[in-house]
Amino acid sequence: MPAARTVPPTGPPAAPRVRAAGLWWLALSALAIAVFAPLPYLLHPLRELAANGGEIAANYAPRPGWVRAALAAHVLLGGLALLLSPVQLSSRVRARFPRLHRVSGRVVLASIAVAGTAGFLLAWFTVAGPVGTAGFGLLAVLWMGFALSGLRAIRRRDVVAHRRWMLRTFAMTYAAVTLRLWLLVLIPLLGGFAAAYVLVPFLCWVPNLAVAELVLRRRSSA
Ligand code: HEM
Repeated sequence: MPAARTVPPTGPPAAPRVRAAGLWWLALSALAIAVFAPLPYLLHPLRELAANGGEIAANYAPRPGWVRAALAAHVLLGGLALLLSPVQLSSRVRARFPRLHRVSGRVVLASIAVAGTAGFLLAWFTVAGPVGTAGFGLLAVLWMGFALSGLRAIRRRDVVAHRRWMLRTFAMTYAAVTLRLWLLVLIPLLGGFAAAYVLVPFLCWVPNLAVAELVLRRRSSA
């Protein structure tokens, strides 16, 4: 009987392929939200967005100028941090273009400092009420705290600790994506924006942080 012919495997094995698909998903979803979430706020005044049914814009349109300025700064620089973060996490970019990694890293950290401070201030005005203040407020503090720990680690040349803190920072930045994904699921499920929105101030970041910790634990035990 002729020996059975085995087809030689093509392309990378399954595990790295799954990992690559996951990384592409993170990068593309971050890019999409970084561009499309801030866009309405950059193109239209808050009053116009509110008149067209924007619940969040309706909350901010009558607020004092400094609150609206905080929202504008947050939207713009949060978008920039989210746009550049996947570039920072790419090991290929780090290895081939170390200067780009350093320059873009400084832009990300400065953006997080401003967008995080603004996010913390906005948390006191959120339509999600006290749960929103607690969830978004804690997220803002952790976001800036993790980013600062990452900066301090690289200043003392501890690359391993730097990478671990920056992964946690990305888990927090990515809350902007998961918040919108949760709303896509929860609004039809619960029948409206208001019911769904009170759940997202914690739901948008606690699972992200849990996944980041799992990844870090697996890496350190490998
Ligand atoms: C990770 C820390 C962050 C915190 C604590 C935070 C917090 C907040 C808060 C409190 C608001 C006001 C919404 C409300 O009143 O309920 C807001 C709005 C907004 N944030 Fe963030 N945010 C964060 C990250 C980001 C990032 C990375 C982006 C990037 C796209 C972003 C984009 C926006 C946009 C576009 C709005 C306007 C509301 C909307 O249309 O969804 N945020 N954020």
